[in-house]
Amino acid sequence: MATQNRENFGGRLAVILAMAGSAIGLGNIWRFPYMVGEHGGAVFVIIYVVCTLLVSLPVFIAEVMIGRRSHTNALDAFARLSRQHPFWKGVGYLSILIPLLIASYYSVIGGWSLDYFFKSCTLTFMRTPPESVSDLFGTFVSSPWAPVLTHLAFLGVSVLVVAGGVKSGIEKFSKITLPVLFALILVILTYSISLPGAGEGVRYLLYPDWSQLTPRTFAYALGQSFYSLSLGMGCIITYGSYVSRKENIVATSAGTALSDLLFAILAGFAIMPAVFAAGIEPGAGPGLIFQSIPFVFAKMGVELPVISAVASILFFLAIIVAAMTSCISLIEVGVAFLVERVHMTRRGACWALFLACGSLGVLCSLSSPVFDFLDWLCSNILLLLMALLAVLFVGFVLPRRVPLDEFTSRGHCPANGRIFPLVYFLIKWVAPIAVVIIFFTNFIL
Ligand code: PFF
Repeated sequence: MATQNRENFGGRLAVILAMAGSAIGLGNIWRFPYMVGEHGGAVFVIIYVVCTLLVSLPVFIAEVMIGRRSHTNALDAFARLSRQHPFWKGVGYLSILIPLLIASYYSVIGGWSLDYFFKSCTLTFMRTPPESVSDLFGTFVSSPWAPVLTHLAFLGVSVLVVAGGVKSGIEKFSKITLPVLFALILVILTYSISLPGAGEGVRYLLYPDWSQLTPRTFAYALGQSFYSLSLGMGCIITYGSYVSRKENIVATSAGTALSDLLFAILAGFAIMPAVFAAGIEPGAGPGLIFQSIPFVFAKMGVELPVISAVASILFFLAIIVAAMTSCISLIEVGVAFLVERVHMTRRGACWALFLACGSLGVLCSLSSPVFDFLDWLCSNILLLLMALLAVLFVGFVLPRRVPLDEFTSRGHCPANGRIFPLVYFLIKWVAPIAVVIIFFTNFIL
């Protein structure tokens, strides 16, 4: 059986670092700040925290349970636990396909970060007049070859790490990069809140204006929280399958969710004060970090050239590192499947995925309608659908003793049993109802 020679993560810290590596990514640094800016500041942050604790964390635990219980890739996980039920087998196929679709366009954004990192190193932002620095983005993405090359370079390095294996590739990479990432964001945050005029941005994140609260706030906050925790894409199921039987999955899931939450909030405090200090509109949308933040660096470069250069290099390095650990988790889903199901070598599987995701990514890179469609399809439809199926699977398909068994790690963590009824209720009722409501809110409102 494929499960016999599988690698496992080496201990709780390694599990948390690898899962947090998957969770912490562009979703935290690129998406979270602009969502906060578009949806009312502190109100969005508060709803986001509530959604993460009450809905996303239980969904996360449910996905880890599916992975660890089945101890196999995302496709076989559903098939094995449902005793080869054809419907759940189909769900398994989807959970392999979706991460690969996402990896294709996610690595395109990773490529943009790579280009902006090079631009920082060559002091491009400081050499460009601040008022035209945001044009650099349009010039770059409309070039026929530059974004293609950076996309392939980003994807290539991610694939190389995955080819190294679970322990010596993914685990080692996350162990080094995650602490560096936290350190980088703290440095940027310290600088950002010390800028003149930054206080306005801090207030924007701390004091809620309840008049901004609408049903859409909940919809976007939950969607963002799922995206940020890598839910609904087979990633957490796959990583869960590398968690040892004795590991306390409640503690590791909570550790991962809290680190992700903390990082998103730190990213908000690193970016918003700088946005306000530079007089930029917080609701500028997806271009916020690629168009507005370089503007901050360009302005800063006039008076403080050295600090500006260092800060911009660190900032884009942080984004690359964060995006890469997430991209790695997306690729690992397909690799686990190709190795265990199709019996390919790990290296062969990595090549195959590089070619598949690389080609689709080239399309996304050259055509923004393809890019936008894939992002919309994955983030607004498939992600919610798959997360819903995962919680329904744990709540209604598996007999109650299975999640209970996993929750207490087969008796190794008996204390968890006390909170099981609450978490089971959240998985079985609260999460599915919340996802269905949000799904329709996205369409109707
Ligand atoms: N959670 C990642 C982020 O916040 O950037 C994005 C992501 C990675 C989504 C892996 C889904 C996934 F399966």
